[in-house]
Amino acid sequence: MRDEKRMAPVERESGPGGTSQAIEALSTEDRHFPPSEAFRAQANVADPDVYARAAADPEGYWAEQASQLDWFAPWQTVLDWQPPFARWFDGGRLNVAHNCLDRHVANGLGDKVAYYWEGEPGDRKVITFSGLLDDVRRCANALKALGVGKGDRVAIYLPMIVEFPVAVLACARIGAPHTVVFGGFSADSLRDRINDAGAKVVITADGGYRRGKTVALKPQVDAALADGACPSVRHVLVANRTGDAVGMVADRDVWWDDLVPGQELDCPAEPMESEDLLYLLYTSGTTAKPKGIVHTTGGYLTGVASTFRSVFDIKPDDVYWCAADIGWVTGHSYIVYGPLANGTTGVLYEGAPDFPDPARWWEIVERYRVTVLYAAPTAIRAHMKWGAQFAQKHDLSSLRLLGSVGEPINPEAWIWYHHHIGGDRAPIVDTWWQTETGAIMISPLPGITDLKPGSSTIALPGIDAAIVDEAGKPVGPNEGGYLVINKPWPSMLRGIYGDDKRYRETYWSRFPGRYFPGDGARYDGDGYTWLLGRVDDVMNVSGHRLSTTEIESALVSHELVAEAAVVGVSDPISGEAPVAFVTLRDGSAVSKELGETLRQHVALKIGAIARPKSVMFTPDLPKTRSGKIMRRLLRDIAADRPLGDTTTLADAGVVDLIRDASRSGKEE
Ligand code: WTA
Repeated sequence: MRDEKRMAPVERESGPGGTSQAIEALSTEDRHFPPSEAFRAQANVADPDVYARAAADPEGYWAEQASQLDWFAPWQTVLDWQPPFARWFDGGRLNVAHNCLDRHVANGLGDKVAYYWEGEPGDRKVITFSGLLDDVRRCANALKALGVGKGDRVAIYLPMIVEFPVAVLACARIGAPHTVVFGGFSADSLRDRINDAGAKVVITADGGYRRGKTVALKPQVDAALADGACPSVRHVLVANRTGDAVGMVADRDVWWDDLVPGQELDCPAEPMESEDLLYLLYTSGTTAKPKGIVHTTGGYLTGVASTFRSVFDIKPDDVYWCAADIGWVTGHSYIVYGPLANGTTGVLYEGAPDFPDPARWWEIVERYRVTVLYAAPTAIRAHMKWGAQFAQKHDLSSLRLLGSVGEPINPEAWIWYHHHIGGDRAPIVDTWWQTETGAIMISPLPGITDLKPGSSTIALPGIDAAIVDEAGKPVGPNEGGYLVINKPWPSMLRGIYGDDKRYRETYWSRFPGRYFPGDGARYDGDGYTWLLGRVDDVMNVSGHRLSTTEIESALVSHELVAEAAVVGVSDPISGEAPVAFVTLRDGSAVSKELGETLRQHVALKIGAIARPKSVMFTPDLPKTRSGKIMRRLLRDIAADRPLGDTTTLADAGVVDLIRDASRSGKEE
């Protein structure tokens, strides 16, 4: 166990950016924003009684939510709970793609827009529900032609193009679980995920666009599969996006345009058991190996469809835009499954928020008359930095609700978002959840909840959350503790793929019988939740989870590195940023160039998001007597120093500090 695991989250003043921001928020922030009468009057959920009703009978509440889906066969039991293994809606049969597409088309919504798609270079497409259904059927038949059957895993590694939701839904249609790998991940990361999932087919594209340049994807797939490194893969389906030349391997690789458009439209949706695997999504844990989070069919769709309706207050004429990437859980649940299950029109945008200039997002909001916008605090902070003048040039009056996700939103960013983007009129839903929870867990209901900037407020109806101390006892108001979830919920993870032991240990051993998400939190005097950041070795960089251990392993895999410790330091835009302390093998010379090489090495091993902001070379790492790295000391050292995007050579002061600490070896 690492040293900081024993620390209560409130002691981590020098901890992650989110932590200090939230603490600061707590001490100074007591502004309330009640829902306006106008908003309350039209809200989907406006009766505060819903909380008490759901708490009195959570299974009844969730069954009511599940019954809004189309089931081919009804369930026999709502919940079968053999801790820590849950089964929801057992006996029920349904198909997720049918719920997202066919039933809307059957209900006369075929001509409704499913997605307005906008590519970064400015190309656009409008896809209706019936158009999307046709594309999904053809793609599903193409997958069958490539030998994919029910239960076979398919890896998806795509840019934000229309083929992305098509591929995801085609898998769901034929009961082939997908595992999406974010396009920013390296060939190494892709290979590990393909192999852990045992994927039979990889769906990719030649590349995508980012800030005016093309980013290659197919060559990464080639590198991942090279030398027979992924023996499960039979075929690679390649969408054409950039037109950049890519090599195609005979008998393995096939162009989307050569295979998919010519397929038959006849493709019945496979009736799936409620507990059949829908997808795996890998996320960073506290060890170097990412965890394959398991999500199943009926409970997951119930959770995302229901929370999408209640939290985003979605109406039939809304135009909803989640500015995330489908490569992350936010995109799975709230770009694809939640919105489509509700027949909602969405926006898909391929590129960067500041290309060709920082007005791009606001131009999109104006063009499509976006009514609900869901974004990450890191993006809001970047827009703050660029300035409100870009938003002011555009008509944002269509926006009626804003959302935030991925990390704590600091009150200053909340107020800026509320004022400059929401025109002081649109409520903000600050939504706390995780890859593992599948769906939003703690969030305001915008027609009911008084908002407080920086607080994700209270657990949703049907979710039983608590904040407890080391011993599992509830803490009082304003005492920091550990967030736990007391009861199972439909969209919860069903496990870690192939690793029940790790599933039990990671989430269920610290507070037996309760789910432990790894976040610190506290309640204020009104019972509002303030998230305080991670309490484990997981960092949150721009709303993305990174494991300190995974970055350390990447560094140590370099031949000149003897030992490495990585800590998260506060960063004004990304929330947290990784900083590496590195000791070299005997005889290796410290240089700025080597620091740069190591930063690139991490980008190559994991992906650019994991690249350390700074590398500090030290002759030793400070350790406790029992040999644990004293990360808190390293964090303090890192936090005290001006850190450019560069290598920082160890100076005498740092070296002394580390030496002193190493010699005394005192426990923290
Ligand atoms: C953090 C993203 C504070 C948290 C949906 C969690 C948040 C991790 C919030 C999950 C929020 C997410 N306020 N912290 N509104 N939303 N987090 O799996 O630490 O990529 O454990 O899922 O992000 O990240 P993940």
